[in-house]
Amino acid sequence: MKEKIESIKKEALEKVDKTNNLKELNDLKVEYLGKKGPVSELTSHMKELSVDEKKDFGMLLNDLKQTITEKIDSKKEQFETEELNKKLSEESIDITLPATKVPIGSPNILEHVIEDFEEVFMSMGYDVVDGPELEEDKFNFELLGLPKGHPARDAQDTFYVKGDELLLRSHTSPVQARVMLAKKGLEPVRIICPGKAYRRDDDDATHSHQFTQVEGLIVDKNIKLSDLKGTVTIICKKLFGNDTITRFRPSYYQFTEPSVEVDISCFNCKGKGCNICKNTGWITVAGAGVVHYDVLKGCGYDPNIWSGFAFGFGAERCAMLKYGINDIRTFYNTDLREIKNFDRREVE
Ligand code: PHE
Repeated sequence: MKEKIESIKKEALEKVDKTNNLKELNDLKVEYLGKKGPVSELTSHMKELSVDEKKDFGMLLNDLKQTITEKIDSKKEQFETEELNKKLSEESIDITLPATKVPIGSPNILEHVIEDFEEVFMSMGYDVVDGPELEEDKFNFELLGLPKGHPARDAQDTFYVKGDELLLRSHTSPVQARVMLAKKGLEPVRIICPGKAYRRDDDDATHSHQFTQVEGLIVDKNIKLSDLKGTVTIICKKLFGNDTITRFRPSYYQFTEPSVEVDISCFNCKGKGCNICKNTGWITVAGAGVVHYDVLKGCGYDPNIWSGFAFGFGAERCAMLKYGINDIRTFYNTDLREIKNFDRREVE
């Protein structure tokens, strides 16, 4: 009996060694350890044996069963490792290949310029405020010294939406009136308002029916024209470089007195004359002035106590100058070939 067990063991182990895959191995497991296999068959003879014989025979049988099982398990592990390695080598990733480029969006360059304005003014204690683009005639014109029929209204050819009362604001200055009225003449005002404005201009390289202004207003006690000059000089240096020189030319707006036009020295030719500054050495970037007596009064501030200044920058104009863009329509273009060059990292 002992020999028989030994020969079964030997034969089984040899057969396991010869298997080529998991399927063959599984068949072999059934063949040897299954219900109809030699191990079960030998076990069924146990009942014919004496107690002592049963003990010896039982040990031999257990050993047979365990040896075959262990051999099958280790072979199984071998097959599984081989299969895994094969799979891994087939699916291996070549990390030396260049990755697919995913195009990344970036804010419009105009946004960067507006952010620059916001950053500088917030550092000087200004609040950034918003106002409606669909505006009332009262705020856009009347409270700013432009009553109905005033000839200067023609300069801001306006989109009227409903009768002559509701319009698309033709500048961001109505926010001045709104903020002053909200403060009821009691507190100082220090705001900037970046936002869209609309005029019935024919679109060309330097005009767009929709454009962006950055309006600023300060109202406090003892505010003078020199404060306006200092503030505007700082922002121009921040936006266009530290060596920028500002020049203030007398001008006229109904809501400021005196009024000025702000020019900066041409950052391209440094004043020598080039096509950006049209050979003048200077570029106009903003309109500004000391808030008019009547505007303060009309908006609830006592002009004998309070005074202020206001300014309005054209954001597109600043962005065009800063980044060398020669057509205002480019900002509103959706052609990726053009606007992808707007990525600030590439321009700076
Ligand atoms: N609102 C003026 C314009 O659109 C600019 C401006 C703003 C002038 C504030 C003076 C003060 O042309």
